[in-house]
Amino acid sequence: MLIKHPRGWDIPETLTTPEHVFLNRRSFLAGMTGAVGAIGLGTLRASAEEIDPTADLYPARHNEAFVAGRATTPEKTNSMYNNFYEFGSHKQIYDAAQALPIRPWAVVIDGEVEQEMTIDIDDLIRRMTLEERVYRHRCVEAWSMVVPWTGFPMRKLVDLAKPLTSATYVRMETFQNPEVARGQRANWYPWPYVEGLTLDEAVNDLTFMVTGAYGKSMAKQFGAPIRLHAPWKYGFKSVKSIVRFTFTRERPVSFWEEIQASEYGFWANVNPEVSHPRWSQASERVLGTDERIPTQLYNGYGEWVADLYKGLEGERLFM
Ligand code: MTE
Repeated sequence: MLIKHPRGWDIPETLTTPEHVFLNRRSFLAGMTGAVGAIGLGTLRASAEEIDPTADLYPARHNEAFVAGRATTPEKTNSMYNNFYEFGSHKQIYDAAQALPIRPWAVVIDGEVEQEMTIDIDDLIRRMTLEERVYRHRCVEAWSMVVPWTGFPMRKLVDLAKPLTSATYVRMETFQNPEVARGQRANWYPWPYVEGLTLDEAVNDLTFMVTGAYGKSMAKQFGAPIRLHAPWKYGFKSVKSIVRFTFTRERPVSFWEEIQASEYGFWANVNPEVSHPRWSQASERVLGTDERIPTQLYNGYGEWVADLYKGLEGERLFM
């Protein structure tokens, strides 16, 4: 499939705005007459923490089984460098994302389950036992970060859903609201953002539903009020601001796969030896530093997940 429009991922890293330039630009613009509407709105809107009725659950118990082996990415760095195409095809979507209303927020569980349900996000969160896990995150664009997420294993959500034996995949869908998410007005993208996992992947110990980060409710630009993190896969699999989990026997076609299947497949497991068609995946830039480090197979999480792929060698597991 031809790409008709350039995406953020097509921009060489040398062309993206370094954070210090971005921050200076923000303070410059904030001082300009009339710029408040464009830049200051985010600060006038309620932060995720202020409007989260489950804010009392943070910080949650730290789970020491998950050690990143590298420094945690500073919260400020991570908060101002995000991929969230609903708010723009660049990294500085922080302000725009504050427009997303995250309460009330309903999550639909449907498809091949014992009983379909719609559950309020706060009911869902309070049914779970939250814990903190520090995970490495490897973007397909060859940058990486380390984040202390708070949430619960996706297996607990699968237990709640009670899928039928016929269901072999979970399809996850992001909200659709072009009124506030201006990126969704770009009709060349197949909105809403969709991602999927096999049921075996969804119930793996590593697979985490994230509701918080850095010891508090998750900021909107990270995908509040609930996102996925599957840390052995390229970051685009970790879908943000989820409104629907559909249990199905059909392999979901994800957002990027629909746009460019030859570059972004269903499996998307991290592998330094399998290059992206347009760049190497052998190493990664550590977000917030000048460091480049070697990329690890399955992002270093092989002991948890490698067995999932036995017998699937014929699939494009690393693309
Ligand atoms: N989910 C939605 N709904 N929209 C997106 O654009 N971007 C993905 C993923 N989830 C994306 C998304 C990509 S490419 C990455 S690398 C991560 O979110 C980025 O997460 P972060 O902004 O918290 O670093």
